[in-house]
Parts: sequence; structure tokens; C-alpha cells
Amino acid sequence: MVSRGGDGTDLAVEFKIIMTKDKKEKSAQSVENRRGFLKKLWIGLGIVALVEMAGVIAAYLRPKKQKADAEILGRIITAGSADNFEKDSVTAFRRGQFYLICLDDGGFMALSRKCTHLGCTVPWVASEKKFICPCHSSVFDISGAVVQSPAPRPLDTFLVMIENGIVKVDTGKKTKRSTFESSQVVYL
Ligand code: FES
Repeated sequence: MVSRGGDGTDLAVEFKIIMTKDKKEKSAQSVENRRGFLKKLWIGLGIVALVEMAGVIAAYLRPKKQKADAEILGRIITAGSADNFEKDSVTAFRRGQFYLICLDDGGFMALSRKCTHLGCTVPWVASEKKFICPCHSSVFDISGAVVQSPAPRPLDTFLVMIENGIVKVDTGKKTKRSTFESSQVVYL
């Protein structure tokens, strides 16, 4: 405690002490503010990190196949001009997961690549002119009809549309069938 003297020196000392005290208080307050700011910053960063982590986990848990199917199915794929496809030909469209068939009479069909037995991808074997499943040897002809079991039914078809000479396939419209019928073929 500083006693008040008669001259100005004591006042100056007291003033200095008050200023120093005030400075210390301000400094302490500033440190406190900084701590508060840093605390809020860390909480904010923590929340951002948690949200990002939740996003990564959700993306990881989402079935990849389902995601791929969602991207592929439900789209209309433009296959190209009908003139570009030779008669009696099979063209694979990986993006749409189908084969575009141009039969020997010029009719078009779009066949699913999935075997109707257990869903394996069925390749077209050009040398045999057949679809032969590598899993359990089911065989399908060019129209997708079963030539050899265990496949229980023909390959599924997708809707084919021909607009102004352009062949389009609606991969969102898949049809199961029990047999091949001429009504499944689309002409120009
Ligand atoms: S999945 Fe094709 S024959 Fe079994």
C-alpha cells in the first residue's frame, strides 16, 4: 500500500501502480479471451473432423455395387445409328451392362449380361455364336433363349427404342421372360 504524500511523487507512484495493475488486468483478460477463442476454434475443428469422418464411414458402408448400379441403371443409353450394326451381330455395352443384338432379319434386342441362374456375367462366345456362362455352363442363343440349363429362363431384356434411325436402350426397364417371342424384337 502506498501512502499518499504531500508532494506529487507519491501521486505519480500511485498512478503508476494503478496503471500497472490495470495493464495486468487487461493482459489477463486478453489471455483469457485468447484461451476462449482457441477453445472455440478447437471445438469447431473437432466438429468439422467428426462430420468428415462420418461422411467417410457412410461412403465406406454404402454398398459399392448398389452405387454402381444406381449410376448405370435408370439411364437411356444411345447405342448409335441402326445402320452401324451388322445383321447377326452382338455388341457389348459395358456401361449399360447389356448386349445389343442385331438379328439376321435386322431386328434389335438388348439383353442383360447377367445369367438367369445365379447372376454371373455371361460372355458372348463368337466362335460358338452362343452366350456361354462360365459359372455353371448355361448356354443361350443370340436371342438370349436357353439352349442349355441350369439357367431357368432366357436372358432378361431391356427396352429398345429406335428414334430417327438411332437405337436407344432404356436400362431402367428390364423385363424377365419365360420364352423368346418375336414381339420382343424391335424393328426400324
Ligand atoms: S450362374 Fe450362369 S450357369 Fe450358373
